[in-house]
Amino acid sequence: MNGTPPAGRTGPIPSALTAGSAPAPVLQTTGLGRRFGGLQAVSDVDLSIPPGRTIGVIGPNGAGKSTLINLITGHLTPSSGRVLINGVDLTGARPWRVAHAGVARTFQIVKPFRGLTVCDNVAVAALFGPSPARTPTAARKEAAQVLERVGLGGKDPLTTAELSVADARRLELAKALALQPKLLLLDEVLAGLRPVEIDASLQLIDDLKKAGLTLLVVEHIVQAITAVSDEILVLHHGQVLMHGAPDHVLGDERVIEAYLGRRYAKRNRT
Ligand SMILES: Nc1ncnc2c1ncn2[C@@H]1O[C@H](COP(=O)(O)OP(=O)(O)OP(=O)(O)O)[C@@H](O)[C@H]1O
Ligand SMILES: [Mg+2]
Repeated sequence: MNGTPPAGRTGPIPSALTAGSAPAPVLQTTGLGRRFGGLQAVSDVDLSIPPGRTIGVIGPNGAGKSTLINLITGHLTPSSGRVLINGVDLTGARPWRVAHAGVARTFQIVKPFRGLTVCDNVAVAALFGPSPARTPTAARKEAAQVLERVGLGGKDPLTTAELSVADARRLELAKALALQPKLLLLDEVLAGLRPVEIDASLQLIDDLKKAGLTLLVVEHIVQAITAVSDEILVLHHGQVLMHGAPDHVLGDERVIEAYLGRRYAKRNRT
């Protein structure tokens, strides 16, 4: 992007994106788009995430949030634009190549390997990543550590059918973390969780941030996304409606109109 604000960016631009000595972005998209027949699901998205930064992505149902993730991870091929991971052009690359470049993601609709135990679900990822475990035994050991980290310690021998909604979401996260990613894309990992479970997940995301991971977090719970994000991007009908600092974005009339609603604005007015 070289300091040129992308289309749709308004408000204060985070200093890491403007400073002359800014580190190279972990993720950069330029003009990224995807069309399904007559529907432009994602349109002209310019995005740049420097190392260690967390960007929150919000928008109404059908805004294109999951499609954006799928375009970045190779689960969908872009109709237009480019995707660079750590400066390497991986536009249209297969998902396994993107994963080997240090990118992991969770799925909005969880995708466990149903025939495997909880432990082996994560061990598969540990065997597959850019620096894979050497043996199944080593992979299971790594898996046990990751399961502990996400709050699934002791559930290693269970089948995935025995997991609650919250635990199934934790397993998604564990599979992603076992790939030892540099960039982690989370698609509604808090959906369907109870408040106490949301707090635990937010704490975990905060720990990941502190460990230096770069994150793109899609979420509907505004308080949650505000708590973890350094900047927020709002998608609307596949386009970037706004992108900037959380306070600025969430106070914007257009964002309130398109997504948050009048009741949110009234409740948060001081
Ligand atoms: N594989 C597909 N084929 C056709 N249309 C699709 C496909 N995937 C997504 N779409 C459409 O693209 C648009 C964006 O969908 P997407 O799932 O990215 O939205 P979203 O912002 O993630 O929504 P939600 O908040 O409900 O998860 C929607 O209109 C959706 O129906
Ligand atoms: Mg979605």
